Amino acid sequence: MTTKSQAVLNWIDERFPLTSTWKAHLSEYYAPKNFNFWYFFGSLALMVLVIQIVTGIFLVMHYKPDASLNASGIPVAFASVEYIMREVPGGWLIRYLHSTGASAFFIVVYLHMFRGLLYGSYRKPRELIWIFGTLIFLALMAEAFMGYLLPWGQMSYWGAQVIVNLFSAIPIIGPDLSLVIRGDFVIGDATLNRFFSFHVIAVPLVLIGLVLAHIVALHEVGSNNPDGVEIKKKKDSRGIPLDGIPFHPYYTVKDIVGVVVFLFFFSVVVFFMPEGGGYFLEYNNFIPANPMVTPPHIAPVWYFTPFYSILRAVTYPLFGLDAKFWGVVAMGASVVIIAFLPWLDRSPVKSIRYKGPVFKIALVIFLICFFILGYLGVLAPTPGRTLVSQICSVLYFAFFLLMPWYSKLDKCKPEPERVTSK
Ligand code: HEM
Repeated sequence: MTTKSQAVLNWIDERFPLTSTWKAHLSEYYAPKNFNFWYFFGSLALMVLVIQIVTGIFLVMHYKPDASLNASGIPVAFASVEYIMREVPGGWLIRYLHSTGASAFFIVVYLHMFRGLLYGSYRKPRELIWIFGTLIFLALMAEAFMGYLLPWGQMSYWGAQVIVNLFSAIPIIGPDLSLVIRGDFVIGDATLNRFFSFHVIAVPLVLIGLVLAHIVALHEVGSNNPDGVEIKKKKDSRGIPLDGIPFHPYYTVKDIVGVVVFLFFFSVVVFFMPEGGGYFLEYNNFIPANPMVTPPHIAPVWYFTPFYSILRAVTYPLFGLDAKFWGVVAMGASVVIIAFLPWLDRSPVKSIRYKGPVFKIALVIFLICFFILGYLGVLAPTPGRTLVSQICSVLYFAFFLLMPWYSKLDKCKPEPERVTSK
């Protein structure tokens, strides 16, 4: 560094902790040296968050949250999205980056969460990282749900109608609650305006705050790794973990590989198949919202379908409350239960590498059920499909609720003292 730039840096450091923050979180943040590709997804999630915010800012410049009809009888909101797609220079790209980004976000976050399951990253002392993660997941679902209403297509309208109506199943407060959410007796302009407000400012602020808390908590305790070994237990004379390497430059450079691979697949979708076969952008959503015509089959976007299947799997009333209410409870519980993993897993080891066969089988069954539930959620229900989704829902909950028992009785291998280089 030249004396001049050093002087500028000193000037800043005397007023703002620039160098110390850089050191604490990057150049002198020691991460385990055995990270594998599963560790790409945290930084990728951060990148997708930035893509969504930046493209969102540009979309808002032309989008109009207005449900009234224009001179051609098309809702203004729907027409403004078409305007972005056809008239605004580069508008189609910005819109497809944002719509593909939503699905990419869930793919990346699901893989990120699965990594946590594999390596027991939720275990002590990382419980708060995990809880912040679950809250991020909830906020992300709210963000995606509200964003989906904005193009004011048939699926936006009827999807919101189905989901908001669910709240009316809650005893006593339900009907008033769904009225508050809609801002009207039906999904309408008031709903569109409040969803827009939440989608562009309130939920993103919460998300950014939670992501910050997530990373601060992570840097307080340090990263886990594929062996589940706590690297802070073995330090050299300078207090540096023996199995640690500085995050920068080692992992900043490694993460670029993940970014390049991700952007390759992301670009293929954005440029060649932006509807993602009808899963990323549903075909019914290219039709303007029409409160008079219900689409023959209403299905949520793919990332909600496992939870939607759990909702539909509940078909029996209980304690005088109808099945719809218990469906909502089951759906809510299926997400909230994830937060309790740190206390449900009683295994003596963290990583799947050293866990016994019972945990591995339970994880595979859980994964298969999650995929089946996801698949059934896009299809119209039949008695046979409902039965399968009921079985899968029971197994989904069993994975969590029986964990204290089977994780304890499992025959684990001994955890190594130091990380391995597999
Ligand atoms: C916007 C969404 C999210 C972002 C931007 C994000 C970001 C990150 C980053 C940058 C890391 C460090 C790098 C890495 O370990 O991959 C991390 C670690 C972690 N995240 Fe997330 N995360 C998000 C959502 C979630 C969710 C939904 C969960 C779980 C419910 C979660 C659980 C964890 C855990 C347990 C770790 C520590 C992993 C370890 O040390 O092995 N995160 N996250």
